[in-house]
Amino acid sequence: MTTTGRFELAAAEAVDGGDFAADVRAGLEARPRRLSCRWFYDAEGSRLFEAICGVPEYYPPRAEREILERRAAEILDRVGSVDSVWELGSGSAVKTRLLLEPLLREGPATYVAVDISRSALEESAASLLGSYPSLRVLAVHGDYEEGLRRLSGWAQPKLLLWLGSNVGNFDRAEAARFLRRVREALGPADRLLLGVDLRKERATLEAAYDDAQGVTAAFNLNLLARINRELGGQFDLAGFRHLARYDVVRGCVDMFLVSRRAQRVRIEGLDLELSFEPGEEIHTESSHKYSREELAELALASELRIDRLWTDDDGRFADLLLAPSDG
Ligand code: AVI
Repeated sequence: MTTTGRFELAAAEAVDGGDFAADVRAGLEARPRRLSCRWFYDAEGSRLFEAICGVPEYYPPRAEREILERRAAEILDRVGSVDSVWELGSGSAVKTRLLLEPLLREGPATYVAVDISRSALEESAASLLGSYPSLRVLAVHGDYEEGLRRLSGWAQPKLLLWLGSNVGNFDRAEAARFLRRVREALGPADRLLLGVDLRKERATLEAAYDDAQGVTAAFNLNLLARINRELGGQFDLAGFRHLARYDVVRGCVDMFLVSRRAQRVRIEGLDLELSFEPGEEIHTESSHKYSREELAELALASELRIDRLWTDDDGRFADLLLAPSDG
């Protein structure tokens, strides 16, 4: 753990360590093949994700920013006084500023950022500390589990942020299970602000996950590049293409890497030799979209009460303020 003044970095043990190798092996040997979206976020993947947030087709960050810009004061008003703001999957924390700024006008505060990307944590913390002299930042380099472990036991009242439709990367049952655990870590006076992408027509969704500049494609292909870099993989990136497909029944955009030809790929560090058929898919991410009814079901299943729900003007995205059912 390193500590300097208003900044503290706490690292969970083995954040990215041996898990990556074991998970890549299990996923690539499975049928259908899969790679977990949690491995997208090495330094290059985090940089590409920030670039995705700027492409015109990927509307969620802009839609959520619109909500927070308009509603920050109302959100904080409903939350009441809090000493700390926590964020799961904090990334660049640019939208978080919209809540921290009005909060810091009331007095000093602590921001606890939890992310699996150390580069994202360090850069966002440096930038926030430079902007806000009365802010203290605790950066937790770890996964959501690590965040939950630290959250329970921290003094109330606090505001927990889980923005950016990160919940969408869990399937619906996993999302309810995880939120129930979040709920258990919250005290009655704590609140959760949850950002969720809403169901909409296929064309908008598929374009959002397959932008014309090819940034999302590069983000997806970076998974293979990461295997090459870290595990001695010999993937020819030109031998795979990016695919985003919306499944209307599941309300989910799935991303894949599709083999363009029959090919064999060796991963030296795993002592593994793989053969791909032409058109064979590796599943890399699911992004679930919610209707209002599904949001009500999710809250109920998680033992959380929806205090308020806001959407952007075009009804593309929602932020929900959730309280423990008994809070
Ligand atoms: C981080 N997560 C919520 C993004 C999403 O929309 O599922 C990741 C992403 N994948 C492609 N574009 C953005």
